[in-house]
Amino acid sequence: MTDALVIETPADQETPAWWRQAVVYQIYPRSFADANGDGLGDIPGILSRVDYLAELGVDAVWLSPFYPSALADGGYDVADYRDVDPRLGTLADFDAMVEALHARGIRVVVDIVPNHTSNLHAWFQEALAAGRGSAARDRYIFREGTGPDGSEPPTDWQSTFGGGAWERVEDGQWYFHHFAVEQPDLNWANPEVREDFLETLRFWSDRGVDGFRIDVAHMLTKDLADPLPSSVELEAIPRDGNHPLFDRDDVHEVYAEWRKVFNSYDPPRTAVAEAWVETPERRAKYASADGLGQAFNFDLLVADFDATQFRTLITVNLAEALVTGSSTTWVLSNHDVTRHATRYGLPPLAGRRVKQGTEWVAAGGPEDQLDREGGLRRARAATLLLLGLPGSTYLYQGEELGLHEVAAITAEQRQDPAFFRGGAFDGLGRDGCRVPLPWTADGASFGFGSAGSHLPQPAWFAEYAVDAEASDPASTLSFYRRALALRHELQTGETLEWLETGREDVLRFVRPNGWQVVTNFGTEPFALDADTGAVVLSSGADAEASVPGETTVWIAPTA
Ligand code: BGC
Repeated sequence: MTDALVIETPADQETPAWWRQAVVYQIYPRSFADANGDGLGDIPGILSRVDYLAELGVDAVWLSPFYPSALADGGYDVADYRDVDPRLGTLADFDAMVEALHARGIRVVVDIVPNHTSNLHAWFQEALAAGRGSAARDRYIFREGTGPDGSEPPTDWQSTFGGGAWERVEDGQWYFHHFAVEQPDLNWANPEVREDFLETLRFWSDRGVDGFRIDVAHMLTKDLADPLPSSVELEAIPRDGNHPLFDRDDVHEVYAEWRKVFNSYDPPRTAVAEAWVETPERRAKYASADGLGQAFNFDLLVADFDATQFRTLITVNLAEALVTGSSTTWVLSNHDVTRHATRYGLPPLAGRRVKQGTEWVAAGGPEDQLDREGGLRRARAATLLLLGLPGSTYLYQGEELGLHEVAAITAEQRQDPAFFRGGAFDGLGRDGCRVPLPWTADGASFGFGSAGSHLPQPAWFAEYAVDAEASDPASTLSFYRRALALRHELQTGETLEWLETGREDVLRFVRPNGWQVVTNFGTEPFALDADTGAVVLSSGADAEASVPGETTVWIAPTA
């Protein structure tokens, strides 16, 4: 990688390129901090914790949806794109939060959900009332059913969360929903839909938002010309730009229009695509400077804690970034996946529901099979490796506390539609990573709010509470704080060079300024040569002459 172009990123992050190597902290607002004691996190709650975020040392926050929503999908069912859910606050609260974050040098990224609205959105209600063939229905994807009386859905397609992808309305027509029934897909061939989202982007940009995270950016445009394929046929169609539903080339026409809006601001607004696509080449299209500019790379999030997988995926993604001119993004946890401390602490498949025939069965209870310490040790090692890589890193709230996934949530307490529809996400759903944060070891809902919390917090949360960890130099919180502070000091050009270690289970690389990262994925200690510079941070036990098993160290550049 040494002959690669070196893109300098100023350490002060004071340029339009601030996002290139930023650490972005994802807030799931309804589970972060609850200021009004209704059991749901809110915007004033975030405002009350801006100093925590500043002390953590993040460059930006990304807020999952905080818009009015019936919470059929945790807020990804948006009823009004240009307002705040009254349970979470007001636009004035939002402005105050942005101001407070900006005053601390923290940028603000908000989530845009353009593939579908809530069924409670005024447009969808209008579409239901207006009936077949109306302009209001054309904003969505309505079709006649099949079978003699149209009582069969237009196709046998399955939704991402499980169950059919079509829902019948009172007058007999059907509408398409990639996700839950309450999330009707928009028709992106409709000019009014396109225009309205431009207005939404301007609305938040005008309020000082610095960037956008684009939900399922690869799904917006569709080709639903008759005859529609069956689900088996659909599955066989390559996702190479012409698939009827996914990753179509014409979606980039949408993002080219968005880019004009982003670039009309100073500094230009940024965007990052959530695009689950087949190849790095397909992903590159979303990261293009004429489009969204950056795309999530989820490769490590789905990889094992394994040196060979990490090395290959890092190399591929850095090469891809050079082609697009964007910077890559590293992610280990978010609101859609099992927390990485838990993933690395469970035997394969434990704690997940797996499908046997048509039945979902538990493959094992995580609480009894989880290696809590080992999972966290590996998670800290992987995180410190990530934070040493060129590009930006996305952190998910609670990982800085070393939180594990919460398994003890009964079916009655669960909220995720994926759980109820038996679809994606291992069949267990995503509630376990969305449990409200513990701020204090004691007190109501561990300091989340004055009342309860909308998902149950387990007793072991006390150990991971912010107040317990803040004063403990060995805690995961102290470790994240040191890592982020040091990263700011050490930050350098966007390349790395691999150094040979003589061990398959040890990765070592050096950044252009001599900053070295060594990760020992194995269990045997890895000896450092005598002339290696000083170890400035270890993800585990103190390391000087050798790197213990399942540990990452950073070595400072020698003067
Ligand atoms: C979000 C999910 C959401 C889905 C539908 C995503 O990929 O990250 O949380 O359920 O889009 O909006």
